[in-house]
Amino acid sequence: MKLLLLGSGGREHALAWKISQSKKIDQLFIAPGNAGTKAVGTNVDIKANDFDSIKQFVIKEGINMVVVGPEDPLVNGIYDFFKNDSELKSIPVIGPSKQGAVLEGSKEFAKQFMMRHNIPTARYQSFNGETLEEGLKFLETLEAPYVLKADGLCAGKGVLILPTLEEAKKELKEMLGGMFGNASATVVIEEFLSGIECSVFVLTDGKNYKILPEAKDYKRIGEGDKGLNTGGMGSVSPVPFATKEWMQKVEDRIIRPTVEGLAEENIDYKGFIFFGLINVKGEPMVIEYNVRMGDPETESVMLRIKSDLVDLFEGVAEGNLNEKTLEIDDRSAVCVMLVSGGYPEAYEKGFPITGIDKVEGSIVFHAGTKESDGNVVTAGGRVIAVSSYGKDKAEALQKSFTEAQKIQFEKKYFRRDIGFDL
Ligand code: AMP
Ligand code: GLY
Repeated sequence: MKLLLLGSGGREHALAWKISQSKKIDQLFIAPGNAGTKAVGTNVDIKANDFDSIKQFVIKEGINMVVVGPEDPLVNGIYDFFKNDSELKSIPVIGPSKQGAVLEGSKEFAKQFMMRHNIPTARYQSFNGETLEEGLKFLETLEAPYVLKADGLCAGKGVLILPTLEEAKKELKEMLGGMFGNASATVVIEEFLSGIECSVFVLTDGKNYKILPEAKDYKRIGEGDKGLNTGGMGSVSPVPFATKEWMQKVEDRIIRPTVEGLAEENIDYKGFIFFGLINVKGEPMVIEYNVRMGDPETESVMLRIKSDLVDLFEGVAEGNLNEKTLEIDDRSAVCVMLVSGGYPEAYEKGFPITGIDKVEGSIVFHAGTKESDGNVVTAGGRVIAVSSYGKDKAEALQKSFTEAQKIQFEKKYFRRDIGFDL
């Protein structure tokens, strides 16, 4: 079959790497891809949000399946675009409908959904410009720190955690005043949860689901989880506190009610669900839903899936995911992200990257790279993920740290303490 994967980051390179190993694949295209995805498929110069160009390409090439990496095209309704088009409707899209993508696209909707289905999450209320005064009063009933979330998509920047009531009040006014444009026209204020986070992923056909390996990501730029938030500096799978018992709670209290809740509400959902969880004194609670895989979690999770991913995708498309098997590798897998100096603040691009060919035994996934005059150069904040297996996380991390040193570009930085808290 011919498969088109949408997206251009490290997550997409990892997905493309895994998809390309499938016996069912004759040709894999990635739109737009990056300098790394070329090694496992064919890059197509089309943006993931350009639905009309995607349509033309899919028809011209005779594409049999479309897999969506990032949330944007999902929130913009690519699933529905295919379903409602007479020429495209027979081609499965792996990803939720526009209505399903609202789980990520609106924090308020996600919270209401969890309330409706008794899914454990932080207590909350939401406010808009007209209810600012109530919002300020609600803050007074909470204890520090204060969690404010813009309702809409803000490229990962829409959550503020404020240490004092004064700052929380000031930020609430600014958010409702248009700090994130329309995305913060509504703000969710919620109780702060204290615990350690874990990302759990499932693949669902809307009725059946498979639980993929869980992972923990490291969001802060600095070692010891200090400094600014980033898109993710590394990941580790499995997560030691996600024991069999804990995962059973996750399945019973969170995963099953979510999948059943979507079906009950007639929300068409055939794709990945990413549960951003927090372990509060042994009890899992939902911090957020995403409607895609995580990045950089995918760069370790894909290493641990032994089964043919495209076979699982077919189960999603055909609604018989329960008949498919998901085999998981017992080894640990980790990813260490090499980033541009200065990131997540201002940084330079265009530095040549060398030494990728010297890496042995680890898998290099490109995140922000591109080709320029025959050289691979940096093209983003997160540049390259170095992923490794090990008998345990220590061995896998050691491998990634060693191999990470062989890759060179000006102002390269990476955290040497991924996994430190597990
Ligand atoms: P999100 O964009 O929803 O992933 O939120 C970003 C980060 O904010 C999460 O990964 C958590 O670390 C933190 N966070 C969000 N909500 C809460 C909460 N209720 N309590 C504690 N931390 C939170
Ligand atoms: N690693 C978190 C995310 O992909 O949103």
